[in-house]
Amino acid sequence: MTEPKLTDAPDWLYLLREYETLYRHGSSGGARTIRAHRRRVRDALSAVIKTNPALIAREPADKPVTAHLPRAIDLGSRQSLVGFSRALYRVAHRLTWEYGYDRVPRGLRDKYAYCEILGPRGPIVTDRLILGFVLFAPNTTYPQHHHKGIEESYISIAGAWSENDAAVYAPGSLILNRAEQEHRITTGELEPCLLAYAWTGAAERLTSPGMRFSSPARSA
Ligand SMILES: [Fe+2]
Repeated sequence: MTEPKLTDAPDWLYLLREYETLYRHGSSGGARTIRAHRRRVRDALSAVIKTNPALIAREPADKPVTAHLPRAIDLGSRQSLVGFSRALYRVAHRLTWEYGYDRVPRGLRDKYAYCEILGPRGPIVTDRLILGFVLFAPNTTYPQHHHKGIEESYISIAGAWSENDAAVYAPGSLILNRAEQEHRITTGELEPCLLAYAWTGAAERLTSPGMRFSSPARSA
């Protein structure tokens, strides 16, 4: 049997095309660093799509927070994000939600999870880029952390949230965290928050990102 490829799974391919659209269109707000990041993400993504990468079957998995996913997708199905949210809806039952940390603070276990759709661990296999989603329940604080050697951007799909208490971000906003930049996330009281994210960096970093909170996670 031949190994499955991206073109064998049109729903994944359509979702990647929606990511490509998000990173191609829209403004970088005049920020050179954001313009360069957007270009890096979409160039890497276009190159990956062209190679028709392998697909790994990953076991779908839920976490408590995924009870909020339908509402988050509904909220995302508005205005400019409708195509993206519909494409996500088509693969929602195949997503592998996880925590990524060896020790998850107890207060976060029911309120946070992420899933990858493209990266070294699949389901769409590449070591050039990681794409995924992170989902937060209403009223969540995601503790301070940073990513060594990895540049991260979030595109807000649903909900209102803040990073480092600096601003409130709405659907469509793009937030860039450069490598090693400390960040802490809080979400609004009424709605879940769904973010699409992209990580760029050297292949060996993307293969073992070593997720850790910046201060010891409290288990209370
Ligand atoms: Fe982060």
